[in-house]
Amino acid sequence: MSCRVVVLLSGRGSNFQAIAEAQLPIDIVAVISNRPQAAGLAYARERGIPAVAFDHTEHTNRAAFDDLLADEIERHQPDLVVLAGYMRILSPAFIARFEGRLLNIHPSLLPMFPGLKTHERALAEGVKVHGCTVHFVTADLDHGPIVIQAAVPVRADDTPATLAARVLQQEHRVYPQAVRWFAEGRLEINQGRVNLKGDSTSQSVFSTER
Ligand code: GRF
Repeated sequence: MSCRVVVLLSGRGSNFQAIAEAQLPIDIVAVISNRPQAAGLAYARERGIPAVAFDHTEHTNRAAFDDLLADEIERHQPDLVVLAGYMRILSPAFIARFEGRLLNIHPSLLPMFPGLKTHERALAEGVKVHGCTVHFVTADLDHGPIVIQAAVPVRADDTPATLAARVLQQEHRVYPQAVRWFAEGRLEINQGRVNLKGDSTSQSVFSTER
């Protein structure tokens, strides 16, 4: 039986697209966006994937909104929930409901630069290496167990936009990889760390721009 995946997004949806096109052993059973205009919803519909908007602006209470969202997700009986540019902080109750089957991608080498504007902050700090991280989501924002990371060199002439574009290329490589490992049952969380079964050297959990 293939792994049932629900995707949450808020916008462009390029990571969702990369996952959808990677020929993974998964079944994307629903795409849900908190923004009705998200391009990711249109793309899902083109592919015949059920896509719905859950507009957060129609709800004033964050916890209540997240409860409704969680109910909608559960209806699809997912094995995995993928956050693909879902730009809202999730309530602790939501995270508890899906803990261990909730993945996120963050555009920095965590634990550096959690939160927003990661590329601007990386440039301001003068770091020479930047990148992205796929991690399990826990109540500790942007700090859950790390599955895979990819690094890109920071160039002297980089702007936030050029750096973001190169990091995004890596996101599109590592997120499908992480989802594949999850679907294959290869990810094991042990004391807050992810162990990739069958990879004692951990060679495949870090990659660099080529
Ligand atoms: C990506 O940079 C991702 O790391 C961050 O939000 C962005 C989403 O882009 N969480 P997209 O919607 O997948 O194109």
